[in-house]
Amino acid sequence: MRTKLVCIRSRAHGARAGKRELNVTEITELQIEEQRAIMARVRGGHTRDVYARVMTFGCQQNEADSERLRGMLLEMGYAMTGASEDADVIIINTCAVREHAEDRVFGVIGALVHQKRARPDMVIAVCGCMAQQEKVAERIRGSYKHVDLVFGTHALWRLPELLSDVLNARGSKSDYRVFSIDDEAGSIAEGLPQARDGQWSGIKAWLSVMYGCNNFCAYCIVPHVRGRERSRRVEAVLSDARELVRDGYRDITLLGQNVNSYGRGTDDGVDFPELLRRINDIDGEFLIRFMTSHPKDAGERLFRAMAESGKVARHLHLPFQAGNNRVLQQMNRGYTRERYLELVAMARDFMPDLVLTSDVIVGFPGETLEEFEDTLRLVETARFDAMFTFIYSPRNGTPAAKMEDNTPREEKQRRFDRLLALQNGISEEKHRSYVGKTVRVLVDAESGDAALPYNARTSGNRLVRLSGSAVPGEFVDALITAGNTWSLVGVVIA
Ligand code: SAH
Ligand code: SF4
Ligand code: F3S
Repeated sequence: MRTKLVCIRSRAHGARAGKRELNVTEITELQIEEQRAIMARVRGGHTRDVYARVMTFGCQQNEADSERLRGMLLEMGYAMTGASEDADVIIINTCAVREHAEDRVFGVIGALVHQKRARPDMVIAVCGCMAQQEKVAERIRGSYKHVDLVFGTHALWRLPELLSDVLNARGSKSDYRVFSIDDEAGSIAEGLPQARDGQWSGIKAWLSVMYGCNNFCAYCIVPHVRGRERSRRVEAVLSDARELVRDGYRDITLLGQNVNSYGRGTDDGVDFPELLRRINDIDGEFLIRFMTSHPKDAGERLFRAMAESGKVARHLHLPFQAGNNRVLQQMNRGYTRERYLELVAMARDFMPDLVLTSDVIVGFPGETLEEFEDTLRLVETARFDAMFTFIYSPRNGTPAAKMEDNTPREEKQRRFDRLLALQNGISEEKHRSYVGKTVRVLVDAESGDAALPYNARTSGNRLVRLSGSAVPGEFVDALITAGNTWSLVGVVIA
């Protein structure tokens, strides 16, 4: 196959992107209409049944994006499959947050070379946060020649056009690959089809309320690959929420990298606490969750809105990242450990039953043993119900990647293990304290385990493995009989 590159149009990448004068744009209805027309054309052009597979890596934002990808593929006449060998189109939606995430994706892409060799007509596409980085796109262009299409986060809404470009090139003399990784401040595209056919189909849903991030934490790639922070209009969010409730969804998670700054830059006059209240006002029994909250923008207004809104889950995920003020400052987090602990106390004053979870990074460049021990002490004080712990991973183009880092990997691993052991003990104690209590839980799914046939979640998002009779999608009362570091065990009592 001849390969011609039609466009690598990235203009800037890395730290510079944040400082450039790029505008956030609203994709017009006309532009979406054009994509719709292309989808209809692609659908009409198939001469046999066609199948597509979407593989998703990374966070819930990517899960939500994949629902859009699947929605567009369905409209283009593709049926979904979970098997690569059946797929005419495979889209790999990628994550760039840590090196490990990227390595896994390269492994998956590499393994598809055999599929492509056996069926040269299939289309392999790579999109998402990794693809948005010029260096990654270059690597795919040079070393993964079986990939036909690469598009970044900003081009997601143009999948119909890009895929149809690739398909049109088939059979023509100038077969080519398509790369679209324009660097943009970002856009909001409303009205794309969406296929919510994930693991908890019909029960749990993602609802993006904003995109991008302006915080530029020194270690983080997200602002560089997701563009500037931009909020969806309140009416668009509310109309999605109403539709989800009408369709019977019971657990709605509002998504954004920093939901606390929702509404900034729109003229709707609705901030995140007010958005929570408005969604809470929708009739029906359902839970409202959200992630992620940034400590620098969280405060009394948020906690009061949570406490006063019965449908808002008693769960706050509030990443602290480091327990030492010098490190926090180097990370550009915008708060101190004292302020963080103050927020925790305030949140618990408003909601004594609040489940608190967090993210933390071990081994940020220059973090000393003493500074790391401040993280341990913060964990002992805050007593999180659960915590996600990461070893720092340098990301090309971020300021932290240029900082001196003399701590050996093994030492970082030792610190990581200490932190994990501490948190595991706290999680276990917390989970044991549920024993003997009756809690209201939402039954998620059948578990496949005959002794504990259902998985359910508390309002605080603790996993409960349930016995007794239940129906996925229903709220039930459960008596908790056991708890360990990771989950609770319970029996349905009503
Ligand atoms: N917007 C969210 C987090 C998004 S990334 C927030 O600000 O809280 C999810 C988590 O990955 C972060 O909270 C952080 O703990 C971790 N993370 C991000 N970049 C990382 C890096 N370069 N190395 C290790 N962990 C990282
Ligand atoms: Fe990354 Fe910080 Fe933005 Fe979270 S707030 S996505 S950690 S830059
Ligand atoms: Fe990964 Fe992109 Fe999410 S980098 S964590 S998929 S925003």
